[in-house]
Amino acid sequence: MRKQKVVVLTGAGISAESGLKTFRDADGLWEGYDIYEVATPEAWNRNPALVREFYNMRRKSVLEAQPNAAHMALVNLETKFDVTIITQNIDDLHERAGSSNVIHLHGLITKSQSSQNPLLVYDIDGWELKMGERCELGSQLRPHVVWFGESVPMIETAAKICTQADVFLIIGTSLAVYPAAGLIDFVPHDADKYVIDPNSPTIHSISNLKIIKEKASTGVPKIMQQLIK
Ligand code: OAD
Repeated sequence: MRKQKVVVLTGAGISAESGLKTFRDADGLWEGYDIYEVATPEAWNRNPALVREFYNMRRKSVLEAQPNAAHMALVNLETKFDVTIITQNIDDLHERAGSSNVIHLHGLITKSQSSQNPLLVYDIDGWELKMGERCELGSQLRPHVVWFGESVPMIETAAKICTQADVFLIIGTSLAVYPAAGLIDFVPHDADKYVIDPNSPTIHSISNLKIIKEKASTGVPKIMQQLIK
């Protein structure tokens, strides 16, 4: 028998209790940094050292962090469901928790890519990407992340998966950034939808939607138990 399909859209809130800062909460990363100074192709052209430093710090925090109860609960869902996680996060905590199918919309901080050809992607050994480290074409390696103003190569794959959802979970995202925020529009009308977030974003005109105003580490295990029953 076909397993039911659970599609999960995660954002920075799921990793907050692992010690990784969100972007738009009070004390979030965009309080301390200007997006246009560190997360755009123009910033990289203007001041690559600053951009590299910003992402080196992010990488260091990610390597020191551990998956939390919410990441683990999503792994448990696989005992009963066909689960795909679509994450906006650039950390690898879903993979380290043990989730089998993870799509990174905004890239992965543990990898670098060629400045010349984005399809050339490499593992980074440790926390530091250094100036002078080059791809096989000879261009400086940059973080393997999607910057503002760049396209999101995985969005079509993600949208197609959303159309197959029987259950759709939205965890720890302000839904402030497109095209990721538009994925909910691809989810079938009759699918059960849950938002788990202590300050859940406003979502209009979506059927079968339940809002659980809780932190991920308690809210996600509860939903997981409920679905598995
Ligand atoms: P945001 O910082 O915009 O939103 C974080 C969400 O997590 C908010 O809705 C919080 O209420 C919620 N939150 C905080 N703590 C939580 C907890 N313990 N449990 C559950 N939820 C919690 O982060 P994102 O929505 O992920 O993109 O941001 C989307 C994109 O904007 C990021 O991928 C990044 C950023 O700029 C790029 O850099 C391209």
